[in-house]
Amino acid sequence: MEVRKIAVLGAGLMGHGIAQVAAQAEFQVNLADVDQRFLDNGLKMIRGSLGKFAEKGIFSKEEAEQTFSRIHPTLELSQAVGDADLVIEAAPENVDVKKELWRRVDQNAPSKAFFASNTSSISISELASATKRPEKFCGMHFFNPPQLMRLIEIVRGARTTDETMSFAVQVCKSLGKEPVVVKRDVAGFVVNRILIPALNEALFLIEEGIADPEDIDKAIQLGLNWPMGPIRLADYVGLDTTLAVAEVLQKELGDPKFRPSPLLRQMVRGGLLGRKTGKGFYDWSR
Ligand code: 3HC
Repeated sequence: MEVRKIAVLGAGLMGHGIAQVAAQAEFQVNLADVDQRFLDNGLKMIRGSLGKFAEKGIFSKEEAEQTFSRIHPTLELSQAVGDADLVIEAAPENVDVKKELWRRVDQNAPSKAFFASNTSSISISELASATKRPEKFCGMHFFNPPQLMRLIEIVRGARTTDETMSFAVQVCKSLGKEPVVVKRDVAGFVVNRILIPALNEALFLIEEGIADPEDIDKAIQLGLNWPMGPIRLADYVGLDTTLAVAEVLQKELGDPKFRPSPLLRQMVRGGLLGRKTGKGFYDWSR
């Protein structure tokens, strides 16, 4: 099926980047959120990112403007999805919020439209069950920052058809990304099943007084060649997101090795979420 219009639901850390990636690939994009402040913030981040690419000569200022003009912000869900060929949801990681959203999307989107959730941990099968078209529903899990990270995990739910998987793989390639197919929607898919326990273990090292955050990050950056160490990365993706995924891994896979570190819980309870609140283990306010 030819894709012209993509609706992206949620203009936050992931949603704004996904919308930008789609606009850069010359799709028309409806970007929806529930509050004008969230939309404004998302558009500001898109402008900033396009500005960086233009500064580097990756594309011209005119191309940056044209890309921006392909993004149509809206607070009306029915308007966002009404003419969409594909809806990508990047709402907060809360199963009830997402299911309610998908119920409404299903009522307003054309019957031809495919649905994808960017969830990092919630069951694709469960989200799909909130719609009357679970066969057209899959996971498209982007990585932060979507503008730079090349991977998308394409995740199969219990009722996703081969046609939907092929469609999502095709869209992924059109976005200039690399797909990896996840054959069952187990918690954490592939990357987070490996990454989140690593980040969590790094937090246990702080808690046990084994090393300071800066030294843990230095060790992993220099010893494993990661672009940023695990503590900084947890801050970067959000300590609340890290905790949410860790909790789902623990609950769904039932193995004590996935137990979230108490330090992680404490930071989240204290509103120290990392980059998104300006402070986590590091200061991101500057
Ligand atoms: N748009 C455009 N350019 C951007 C950008 C954006 N959103 N973010 C960063 N950049 C550019 C910067 O301007 C900079 O350009 P320069 O080299 O010309 O100055 C370049 O990217 C590097 O950025 P920084 O100097 O700020 O910092 P780093 O060198 O550390 O790079 C990074 C930033 C690309 C994020 C790199 O640190 C990195 O790859 N980190 C790991 C990210 C990662 O692992 N992501 C996956 C997280 S897991 C996930 O998302 C799953 C979820 O479900 C939890």
